[in-house]
Amino acid sequence: MFSERIHSTRLGILLSGRGSNFLAIAESIRTGKLSGVEIAVVISNVAEAPGVAAAVQLGLPHAVLVSKGRKRAEHDADVAALLNSHKVDLVCLAGYMRLLSPEFVAAYRHRILNIHPSLLPAFPGLDAQRQAFDYGVKVTGCTVHFVDDELDHGAIVLQRAIPVLESEDAHSLAARILVEEHIAYTEAIARVVSGEYEVQGRRHVKKARSRDAGTTGRLLV
Ligand code: GRF
Repeated sequence: MFSERIHSTRLGILLSGRGSNFLAIAESIRTGKLSGVEIAVVISNVAEAPGVAAAVQLGLPHAVLVSKGRKRAEHDADVAALLNSHKVDLVCLAGYMRLLSPEFVAAYRHRILNIHPSLLPAFPGLDAQRQAFDYGVKVTGCTVHFVDDELDHGAIVLQRAIPVLESEDAHSLAARILVEEHIAYTEAIARVVSGEYEVQGRRHVKKARSRDAGTTGRLLV
């Protein structure tokens, strides 16, 4: 669907906290690193999330839909209605600390991205940076992936890897992974909205070019 777009792709950002990935995306749009994309709405499920205050400061449409104590499917239906009213094309989870209902995932199939601070499928779940550090891995990083019904599981769009340094602790490792996350999310969104990729099974791969595309190099038909 993204390949047919003539207007910019409208992002819906879902967050629960700090919002540094949201801000990195916003900055990439502002500086033109991410073109043909706009933030349609920022939605938090936590009232006091600093990410919401940041959205206010940037003058972006925003909303708080508190999820605590609500049934998952009911809360998600409200989120979906809000996303629809803002004509959102692509949902970006940016530190959204709540599992999504199967109905929501189905409604936005291959249109929900998440960022996770490990090289999936290693270390899904909470505190992934510490999990990786404590396990003693020598390389870790971050993953941007599509969301499916399993936690931290959908097709991988992009990963960035860094070495774990002898000298560091779990905190410094998490900080260095975060730097990579901010780069990765922009690159992943650009890749998804380019319309040049598709999901084949678990793989997010470049679409084959047709013969009449008139390209040079190897032709794939
Ligand atoms: C990031 O580490 C992200 O990978 C994880 O939650 C954290 C959110 O951080 N899913 P921020 O709110 O974007 O600063």
